[in-house]
Amino acid sequence: MSLRKPMIAGNWKMFKTQTEAAETARRLVSLVKDTRDVDVMVAPAFTALAGVAAEISGTPVTLGAQNLFWETEGAFTGEISPAMLVAVGCRYVIIGHSERRQYFGETDTGVNRKTAAAIDAGLVPVLCIGETASEREDDKTLPVLQRQLKKGLDGFTAEALASLVIAYEPVWAIGTGKAATADIAQSVHAAIRQWIETNFGNSLAKSIRILYGGSVKPNNVKELMSQPDIDGALVGGASLDAETFSQLICYK
Ligand code: PGA
Repeated sequence: MSLRKPMIAGNWKMFKTQTEAAETARRLVSLVKDTRDVDVMVAPAFTALAGVAAEISGTPVTLGAQNLFWETEGAFTGEISPAMLVAVGCRYVIIGHSERRQYFGETDTGVNRKTAAAIDAGLVPVLCIGETASEREDDKTLPVLQRQLKKGLDGFTAEALASLVIAYEPVWAIGTGKAATADIAQSVHAAIRQWIETNFGNSLAKSIRILYGGSVKPNNVKELMSQPDIDGALVGGASLDAETFSQLICYK
C-alpha cells in the first residue's frame, strides 16, 4: 500500500472574476464535505485568491496560486512574491506550467529559482513538467522530462524537497480532450519516480507525490488514479465547474 495521500488539484487558469471564483469555491465546499482521504487544492487567478480563501477557510479545500516570483520584494512591476501568497492563505503554488513555459518564456532556470523561493517561504511547489507532441514523436519524452527535472531541481537536497509535488502534464494532452492513456501515464510516472530515486534517494522517491495532468475528466479519473505511480491529478477545464470537479475529488 502506498503511503502517499492522493491529491486532486484544480488549476483555474485565467478564468473567473473574483465573484465567480468565490461562488464556485462556495459550491465546491458544499459538495465535498468529506474529503479526508484526498488533499484538495484550487488555484484561482491572483485577484480571486483572497475571496476564495475566505470561502474555503475551515474546510478541507486548500488554496494554491498559479505562479510566483522568486524575489522577496522590490521593484518588480506586475510580480507577486512568495510571502504575499502565504499571507493571502496559499499553501501550494504551481510552478513551470507548460503554458508559462510556452507563452511567457519560462525557463528551467527560472523554474529552479521559483521552486527554491516557494520552499523558503513554506509553500508547497507543484512543479510541472511535460513533453510536447513533437518531442514525444521523436522519442524524446524521457530526455525532456529528465532535463526539466535536473535543471528544475538543481542544488536541492532530498530533505528540502520533502514537500515537493511533481505534476506530469504532457503538453499534447492539456486542453485537448486527449488524455494520456493510463498505461502511458503510469510508465512515465514510474520513470520520473526512478529518476528521483537515482538522484535523491529511495526515501524521497517513495514519498513524493506525482500528479497527472492533461484532460482529466470524470470518465477517466478512476483508471488513472488506480495506477500505482499516479498519486493525483492536476485538472484544468474539468475543475471550473464545481459539480464536475467534485466528481473528480470523489473519484473513489
Ligand atoms: P486540462 O488542463 O485539464 O484542461 O487539460 C490541465 C492543466 O493545464 O493543468
